[in-house]
Amino acid sequence: MTTIVQAASYGGPESLTLAQIDLPAPGPGEVALDVRAAGVNPIDIKLYSGMMGADPAALPRRLGLEAAGVVTAVGPDAVGPEGPIAVGDEVIAFPIGGAYADQVVVPARAVIPKPAALGWPEAGGLMVTGATAVHLLTATSVDAGDTVLVHGASGGVGLMVIQLAKLRGARVIATASPRRHEALIALGAEPVAYGDGLLERVQAVAPDGINVALDLIGSQEALETSLALVADRTRIASIANFSSGPAAGIKVLGGGPGADPGDELRAAARPELARLAGEGTLVVSVGATFALAEVAEAHRLVAAGGANGKVVLLP
Ligand SMILES: NC(=O)c1ccc[n+]([C@@H]2O[C@H](COP(=O)([O-])OP(=O)(O)OC[C@H]3O[C@@H](n4cnc5c(N)ncnc54)[C@H](OP(=O)(O)O)[C@@H]3O)[C@@H](O)[C@H]2O)c1
Repeated sequence: MTTIVQAASYGGPESLTLAQIDLPAPGPGEVALDVRAAGVNPIDIKLYSGMMGADPAALPRRLGLEAAGVVTAVGPDAVGPEGPIAVGDEVIAFPIGGAYADQVVVPARAVIPKPAALGWPEAGGLMVTGATAVHLLTATSVDAGDTVLVHGASGGVGLMVIQLAKLRGARVIATASPRRHEALIALGAEPVAYGDGLLERVQAVAPDGINVALDLIGSQEALETSLALVADRTRIASIANFSSGPAAGIKVLGGGPGADPGDELRAAARPELARLAGEGTLVVSVGATFALAEVAEAHRLVAAGGANGKVVLLP
């Protein structure tokens, strides 16, 4: 039997329950994994909170878009984007559904090798944030010489955006709570506190101007500050403002209404993200780990914004 996490109703983390299922054998083009780590992302919480709809027919709803684990069975014609997959391979699987489980069956096209040097929690929490960061930087053509403002830079996506923007040679101004500033400085960013007076604080740190603004929060403050600083709206992007972002003419990215989903770009980013993380150039900062049975606690921590890094389930 396999243990899975599911949302049995719409609401808060109390909606989450464990269930036992029979794991099917992998079919054509599929592989089975023993899950060693599954990343927790805010979208997992939004999906059963009711903020993205509350269709009773979609319940119970399984959760989790990314996992790392060991291959236990390989279906016919199951070849990954990086080549053949064999039992015993240590892999990263993204994008998938239902990653919160101790075993999963996933499409082979979602599976790439895990670098041996990368730990399980880091591998399980790398891809959603990493691929989103690559999408943001590619959509706004961030390059050496750019000065990039990142709103909400201390979260999982923000820590990836900072590191990948620095690797491209950009200067990064990063908004976060003061308690997170030291961590951002360590990654090479220049932190400023968000809240009243943000525009003036950014202008004081970057008097020569900002070329690119990336919004990971979706607040009105982030949108207005970005529009005030960056004249070229093709170089302002948000992954969280699906309400006023499109009308403002900025790029809205991800799965929301009117957004560029970027699925191919994100999938294509996986091997390079794994390589960088494996060699230690890209650090996945894990803030907390939980057992599957503690998933409600994990979601409360993410919803409260207190994780100080990536939250990962370790089945
Ligand atoms: N569209 C897409 O494709 C896509 C993909 C991934 C994520 N997302 C969305 O992007 C958002 C960020 O994801 P994440 O994984 O980075 O979340 P996360 O790890 O939970 O981080 C959220 C961060 O937001 C910061 N924050 C809270 N209020 C803020 C404010 N008013 N101004 C600036 N920062 C603020 C917190 O920082 P402090 O502790 O410093 O306050 C916290 O570190 C979520 O809404 C998520 O659903 C969208």
